[in-house]
Amino acid sequence: MTIRPRRSCLYMPGANVKALEKAKTLPADALIFDLEDAVAPEAKPEARANVAAALAGGGYGRREIVVRVNGLTTPWGADDIAALAAKGADAVLVPKVDTGADVEAAQRALDAAGSTAALWVMIETPRAILNIQDIAAAAGRTRLAAFVMGTNDLAKETRALQTADRGPFWTALSLSVLAGRAYGLTLIDGVFNDIEDAAGFEAVCRQGLAFGFDGKTLIHPSQIATCNTVFAPTAEEVAQARDVIAAFAAPEAAGKGVLKVNGKMTELLHLEQAKRTVAIADAIAAAA
Ligand code: COA
Ligand code: MG
Repeated sequence: MTIRPRRSCLYMPGANVKALEKAKTLPADALIFDLEDAVAPEAKPEARANVAAALAGGGYGRREIVVRVNGLTTPWGADDIAALAAKGADAVLVPKVDTGADVEAAQRALDAAGSTAALWVMIETPRAILNIQDIAAAAGRTRLAAFVMGTNDLAKETRALQTADRGPFWTALSLSVLAGRAYGLTLIDGVFNDIEDAAGFEAVCRQGLAFGFDGKTLIHPSQIATCNTVFAPTAEEVAQARDVIAAFAAPEAAGKGVLKVNGKMTELLHLEQAKRTVAIADAIAAAA
Protein backbone atom coordinates (compact mmCIF):
# COMPACT_ATOMS: atom_id res chain seq x y z
CA MET A 1 0.00 0.00 0.00
CA THR A 2 1.61 3.31 -1.04
CA ILE A 3 -0.03 6.41 0.35
CA ARG A 4 1.05 9.97 -0.26
CA PRO A 5 0.30 12.40 2.58
CA ARG A 6 -1.80 15.31 1.37
CA ARG A 7 -2.48 16.95 4.71
CA SER A 8 -1.52 20.49 3.78
CA CYS A 9 -2.00 21.87 0.24
CA LEU A 10 -0.79 25.47 0.07
CA TYR A 11 -2.03 27.78 -2.66
CA MET A 12 0.14 30.57 -3.94
CA PRO A 13 -0.56 33.10 -6.67
CA GLY A 14 1.45 32.37 -9.81
CA ALA A 15 2.08 36.11 -10.05
CA ASN A 16 3.91 36.07 -6.68
CA VAL A 17 7.51 35.05 -7.44
CA LYS A 18 8.49 35.51 -3.81
CA ALA A 19 5.85 33.01 -2.67
CA LEU A 20 6.89 30.50 -5.36
CA GLU A 21 10.45 30.77 -4.04
CA LYS A 22 9.52 30.66 -0.36
CA ALA A 23 7.50 27.49 -0.92
CA LYS A 24 10.75 25.54 -1.42
CA THR A 25 11.34 25.84 2.33
CA LEU A 26 7.78 25.33 3.62
CA PRO A 27 6.65 22.01 5.14
CA ALA A 28 3.48 21.67 3.06
CA ASP A 29 2.74 18.26 1.54
CA ALA A 30 1.51 19.86 -1.69
CA LEU A 31 1.94 23.24 -3.36
CA ILE A 32 -0.74 24.62 -5.65
CA PHE A 33 0.66 27.19 -8.09
CA ASP A 34 -2.44 29.21 -8.89
CA LEU A 35 -3.19 30.82 -12.24
CA GLU A 36 -6.91 31.28 -11.51
CA ASP A 37 -8.72 33.10 -8.68
CA ALA A 38 -5.60 34.59 -7.06
CA VAL A 39 -4.33 36.11 -10.32
CA ALA A 40 -5.82 39.28 -11.83
CA PRO A 41 -6.69 39.12 -15.56
CA GLU A 42 -3.89 41.51 -16.52
CA ALA A 43 -1.34 39.36 -14.66
CA LYS A 44 -2.36 36.01 -16.24
CA PRO A 45 0.47 35.83 -18.84
CA GLU A 46 3.10 36.85 -16.29
CA ALA A 47 1.80 34.24 -13.80
CA ARG A 48 1.91 31.54 -16.48
CA ALA A 49 5.54 32.44 -17.24
CA ASN A 50 6.46 32.45 -13.54
CA VAL A 51 4.92 29.03 -13.00
CA ALA A 52 6.66 27.66 -16.09
CA ALA A 53 9.97 28.94 -14.68
CA ALA A 54 9.24 27.42 -11.26
CA LEU A 55 8.42 24.03 -12.82
CA ALA A 56 11.58 24.15 -14.92
CA GLY A 57 13.76 25.28 -12.02
CA GLY A 58 12.49 22.68 -9.55
CA GLY A 59 13.93 22.65 -6.03
CA TYR A 60 10.63 21.65 -4.38
CA GLY A 61 11.92 18.35 -3.05
CA ARG A 62 9.29 15.88 -1.89
CA ARG A 63 6.43 18.40 -2.16
CA GLU A 64 3.71 17.43 -4.62
CA ILE A 65 3.37 20.13 -7.27
CA VAL A 66 -0.08 21.06 -8.51
CA VAL A 67 -0.87 23.74 -11.09
CA ARG A 68 -4.32 25.28 -10.89
CA VAL A 69 -5.22 26.41 -14.39
CA ASN A 70 -8.01 28.73 -15.42
CA GLY A 71 -11.35 27.21 -16.33
CA LEU A 72 -11.60 25.69 -19.79
CA THR A 73 -14.36 28.15 -20.77
CA THR A 74 -12.24 31.21 -19.91
CA PRO A 75 -9.88 32.95 -22.36
CA TRP A 76 -6.83 31.42 -20.56
CA GLY A 77 -7.65 27.82 -19.56
CA ALA A 78 -6.74 26.03 -22.78
CA ASP A 79 -3.48 28.02 -23.14
CA ASP A 80 -2.58 27.31 -19.49
CA ILE A 81 -2.90 23.58 -20.07
CA ALA A 82 -1.11 23.68 -23.41
CA ALA A 83 1.77 25.66 -21.88
CA LEU A 84 2.15 23.94 -18.52
CA ALA A 85 0.45 20.57 -18.23
CA ALA A 86 3.39 18.59 -19.60
CA LYS A 87 6.08 20.57 -17.75
CA GLY A 88 6.49 18.30 -14.76
CA ALA A 89 3.65 19.11 -12.37
CA ASP A 90 2.34 16.08 -10.48
CA ALA A 91 -1.23 17.21 -11.01
CA VAL A 92 -3.27 19.80 -12.87
CA LEU A 93 -6.17 21.26 -10.89
CA VAL A 94 -9.10 22.30 -13.08
CA PRO A 95 -11.65 24.69 -11.56
CA LYS A 96 -15.41 24.96 -11.92
CA VAL A 97 -16.24 21.58 -13.38
CA ASP A 98 -20.00 20.96 -13.39
CA THR A 99 -20.30 17.46 -14.90
CA GLY A 100 -18.47 14.25 -15.70
CA ALA A 101 -18.29 15.49 -19.29
CA ASP A 102 -16.32 18.52 -18.04
CA VAL A 103 -13.84 16.14 -16.40
CA GLU A 104 -13.48 14.25 -19.69
CA ALA A 105 -12.91 17.53 -21.55
CA ALA A 106 -10.17 18.44 -19.09
CA GLN A 107 -8.58 15.01 -19.56
CA ARG A 108 -8.65 15.46 -23.35
CA ALA A 109 -6.88 18.81 -22.94
CA LEU A 110 -4.19 17.16 -20.79
CA ASP A 111 -3.79 14.38 -23.34
CA ALA A 112 -3.53 16.88 -26.20
CA ALA A 113 -0.75 18.66 -24.28
CA GLY A 114 1.11 15.35 -23.87
CA SER A 115 0.64 15.52 -20.11
CA THR A 116 0.76 12.47 -17.85
CA ALA A 117 -0.14 14.54 -14.77
CA ALA A 118 -2.98 13.49 -12.50
CA LEU A 119 -6.22 15.43 -12.84
CA TRP A 120 -7.60 17.18 -9.77
CA VAL A 121 -10.83 19.16 -9.93
CA MET A 122 -12.37 21.93 -7.87
CA ILE A 123 -15.81 21.19 -6.49
CA GLU A 124 -17.17 24.71 -6.17
CA THR A 125 -20.40 25.18 -8.11
CA PRO A 126 -23.98 24.30 -7.18
CA ARG A 127 -24.20 22.18 -10.34
CA ALA A 128 -21.11 20.21 -9.32
CA ILE A 129 -22.75 19.31 -6.01
CA LEU A 130 -25.94 18.24 -7.79
CA ASN A 131 -23.89 16.17 -10.28
CA ILE A 132 -21.31 14.94 -7.81
CA GLN A 133 -21.64 11.21 -8.54
CA ASP A 134 -21.41 11.84 -12.30
CA ILE A 135 -18.22 13.84 -11.71
CA ALA A 136 -16.65 11.26 -9.38
CA ALA A 137 -17.52 8.39 -11.72
CA ALA A 138 -15.44 10.06 -14.45
CA ALA A 139 -12.45 8.69 -12.50
CA GLY A 140 -13.13 5.40 -14.28
CA ARG A 141 -12.34 6.92 -17.69
CA THR A 142 -9.85 9.71 -16.85
CA ARG A 143 -6.90 10.32 -14.50
CA LEU A 144 -9.20 12.11 -12.04
CA ALA A 145 -7.57 11.60 -8.65
CA ALA A 146 -8.78 14.30 -6.27
CA PHE A 147 -11.59 16.64 -5.32
CA VAL A 148 -10.62 20.03 -3.89
CA MET A 149 -13.47 21.88 -2.21
CA GLY A 150 -13.86 25.48 -3.36
CA THR A 151 -15.85 26.81 -0.45
CA ASN A 152 -15.37 30.49 -1.31
CA ASP A 153 -16.91 30.01 -4.77
CA LEU A 154 -19.66 27.81 -3.32
CA ALA A 155 -20.47 30.59 -0.86
CA LYS A 156 -20.54 33.13 -3.68
CA GLU A 157 -22.74 31.00 -5.93
CA THR A 158 -25.18 29.80 -3.27
CA ARG A 159 -25.12 32.97 -1.11
CA ALA A 160 -24.76 30.67 1.88
CA LEU A 161 -22.90 32.24 4.79
CA GLN A 162 -19.54 30.91 5.94
CA THR A 163 -20.58 30.54 9.57
CA ALA A 164 -18.14 29.24 12.18
CA ASP A 165 -19.65 25.74 12.12
CA ARG A 166 -19.99 25.75 8.29
CA GLY A 167 -23.51 24.39 8.73
CA PRO A 168 -24.71 25.77 5.37
CA PHE A 169 -21.95 23.70 3.65
CA TRP A 170 -22.40 20.36 5.39
CA THR A 171 -24.50 18.91 2.59
CA ALA A 172 -21.98 19.89 -0.08
CA LEU A 173 -19.00 18.70 1.96
CA SER A 174 -20.63 15.41 2.87
CA LEU A 175 -21.91 14.62 -0.63
CA SER A 176 -18.43 15.32 -1.99
CA VAL A 177 -16.84 12.98 0.56
CA LEU A 178 -19.38 10.23 -0.19
CA ALA A 179 -18.93 10.47 -3.96
CA GLY A 180 -15.17 10.84 -3.74
CA ARG A 181 -14.78 7.82 -1.48
CA ALA A 182 -17.12 5.76 -3.64
CA TYR A 183 -14.74 6.28 -6.58
CA GLY A 184 -11.40 6.19 -4.74
CA LEU A 185 -10.49 9.88 -4.85
CA THR A 186 -8.32 11.95 -2.52
CA LEU A 187 -10.41 14.60 -0.76
CA ILE A 188 -9.07 18.04 0.11
CA ASP A 189 -11.14 20.51 2.14
CA GLY A 190 -11.58 24.22 1.31
CA VAL A 191 -9.60 27.19 2.62
CA PHE A 192 -10.06 29.24 5.81
CA ASN A 193 -9.80 32.91 4.95
CA ASP A 194 -9.14 34.44 8.38
CA ILE A 195 -5.34 34.12 8.54
CA GLU A 196 -5.19 35.71 12.01
CA ASP A 197 -7.72 33.33 13.64
CA ALA A 198 -5.56 30.38 14.67
CA ALA A 199 -8.19 28.84 16.98
CA GLY A 200 -10.92 29.07 14.34
CA PHE A 201 -8.55 27.53 11.80
CA GLU A 202 -7.71 24.57 14.02
CA ALA A 203 -11.40 23.96 14.73
CA VAL A 204 -12.23 23.89 11.05
CA CYS A 205 -9.27 21.58 10.33
CA ARG A 206 -10.62 19.16 12.94
CA GLN A 207 -14.07 19.44 11.39
CA GLY A 208 -12.67 18.62 7.94
CA LEU A 209 -10.91 15.58 9.40
CA ALA A 210 -14.17 14.49 11.02
CA PHE A 211 -15.97 14.78 7.68
CA GLY A 212 -13.42 12.41 6.18
CA PHE A 213 -11.12 14.76 4.27
CA ASP A 214 -7.49 13.72 3.72
CA GLY A 215 -6.22 17.26 4.06
CA LYS A 216 -6.99 20.92 3.58
CA THR A 217 -6.14 23.68 1.17
CA LEU A 218 -4.29 26.59 2.78
CA ILE A 219 -3.61 30.20 1.89
CA HIS A 220 -0.77 31.17 4.23
CA PRO A 221 2.41 29.51 5.57
CA SER A 222 1.21 30.11 9.16
CA GLN A 223 -1.57 27.53 8.58
CA ILE A 224 0.72 24.62 7.62
CA ALA A 225 1.90 23.31 11.00
CA THR A 226 -1.56 23.05 12.57
CA CYS A 227 -2.95 21.41 9.44
CA ASN A 228 -0.12 18.85 9.33
CA THR A 229 -0.75 17.94 12.96
CA VAL A 230 -4.53 17.67 12.70
CA PHE A 231 -4.52 15.54 9.54
CA ALA A 232 -1.83 13.14 10.80
CA PRO A 233 -2.82 10.13 12.91
CA THR A 234 -2.08 10.74 16.60
CA ALA A 235 0.59 8.72 18.41
CA GLU A 236 -2.20 6.90 20.28
CA GLU A 237 -3.98 6.03 17.03
CA VAL A 238 -0.77 4.68 15.52
CA ALA A 239 0.01 2.66 18.67
CA GLN A 240 -3.50 1.17 18.70
CA ALA A 241 -3.25 0.41 14.97
CA ARG A 242 0.04 -1.42 15.48
CA ASP A 243 -1.54 -3.40 18.36
CA VAL A 244 -4.49 -4.34 16.13
CA ILE A 245 -2.14 -5.55 13.36
CA ALA A 246 -0.08 -7.54 15.88
CA ALA A 247 -3.19 -9.05 17.48
CA PHE A 248 -4.57 -10.32 14.19
CA ALA A 249 -1.11 -11.64 13.21
CA ALA A 250 -0.76 -13.67 16.43
CA PRO A 251 -1.18 -17.46 16.06
CA GLU A 252 -4.16 -17.54 18.44
CA ALA A 253 -6.06 -15.12 16.15
CA ALA A 254 -5.89 -17.49 13.18
CA GLY A 255 -9.31 -17.84 11.59
CA LYS A 256 -10.91 -15.25 13.90
CA GLY A 257 -12.96 -12.32 12.63
CA VAL A 258 -13.27 -10.42 15.87
CA LEU A 259 -10.89 -9.81 18.77
CA LYS A 260 -10.67 -7.59 21.82
CA VAL A 261 -7.64 -5.29 21.51
CA ASN A 262 -6.85 -2.97 24.44
CA GLY A 263 -10.45 -3.36 25.58
CA LYS A 264 -12.01 -2.51 22.20
CA MET A 265 -14.07 -4.75 19.94
CA THR A 266 -11.93 -5.12 16.82
CA GLU A 267 -13.06 -6.72 13.56
CA LEU A 268 -11.28 -7.38 10.30
CA LEU A 269 -12.54 -4.02 8.98
CA HIS A 270 -10.62 -2.38 11.83
CA LEU A 271 -7.54 -4.30 10.70
CA GLU A 272 -7.88 -2.68 7.27
CA GLN A 273 -8.21 0.76 8.90
CA ALA A 274 -5.22 0.01 11.12
CA LYS A 275 -3.06 -0.87 8.12
CA ARG A 276 -4.02 2.42 6.49
CA THR A 277 -3.24 4.37 9.66
CA VAL A 278 0.21 2.81 9.89
CA ALA A 279 0.86 3.33 6.17
CA ILE A 280 0.00 7.03 6.35
CA ALA A 281 2.02 7.48 9.55
CA ASP A 282 5.01 5.78 7.90
CA ALA A 283 4.63 7.95 4.79
CA ILE A 284 4.54 11.10 6.95
CA ALA A 285 7.61 9.95 8.88
CA ALA A 286 9.46 9.18 5.64
CA ALA A 287 8.67 12.66 4.30
CA ALA A 288 9.82 14.52 7.43
N1 COA B 1 2.58 30.77 -0.25
C1 COA B 1 3.91 31.00 -0.05
N2 COA B 1 4.39 32.01 0.66
C2 COA B 1 3.49 32.86 1.18
C3 COA B 1 2.11 32.70 1.00
C4 COA B 1 1.66 31.60 0.25
N3 COA B 1 0.36 31.39 0.05
N4 COA B 1 1.45 33.69 1.65
C5 COA B 1 2.40 34.46 2.21
N5 COA B 1 3.63 33.97 1.94
C6 COA B 1 4.92 34.50 2.39
C7 COA B 1 5.11 35.96 2.07
O1 COA B 1 5.69 36.08 0.78
C8 COA B 1 6.02 36.39 3.18
O2 COA B 1 7.32 35.94 2.87
P1 COA B 1 8.64 36.58 3.56
O3 COA B 1 8.55 36.29 5.01
O4 COA B 1 9.76 35.88 2.89
O5 COA B 1 8.55 38.04 3.26
C9 COA B 1 5.55 35.58 4.36
O6 COA B 1 4.92 34.42 3.79
C10 COA B 1 4.57 36.31 5.25
O7 COA B 1 3.50 36.77 4.47
P2 COA B 1 2.48 37.89 5.00
O8 COA B 1 3.14 39.22 4.97
O9 COA B 1 1.93 37.45 6.31
O10 COA B 1 1.32 37.81 3.94
P3 COA B 1 1.08 38.75 2.71
O11 COA B 1 0.40 40.00 3.20
O12 COA B 1 2.35 38.89 1.93
O13 COA B 1 0.06 37.90 1.84
C11 COA B 1 -1.96 36.94 1.11
C12 COA B 1 -1.26 37.63 2.28
C13 COA B 1 -3.33 36.49 1.58
C14 COA B 1 -2.08 37.91 -0.06
C15 COA B 1 -1.11 35.71 0.71
O14 COA B 1 -0.96 34.92 1.86
C16 COA B 1 -1.65 34.91 -0.44
O15 COA B 1 -1.54 35.32 -1.59
N6 COA B 1 -2.18 33.69 -0.17
C17 COA B 1 -2.61 32.76 -1.19
C18 COA B 1 -3.84 33.25 -1.91
C19 COA B 1 -4.24 32.25 -2.96
O16 COA B 1 -3.43 31.64 -3.62
N7 COA B 1 -5.57 32.09 -3.15
C20 COA B 1 -6.07 31.17 -4.12
C21 COA B 1 -6.90 30.08 -3.53
S1 COA B 1 -8.10 30.55 -2.37
MG1 MG C 1 -12.62 29.04 -7.02
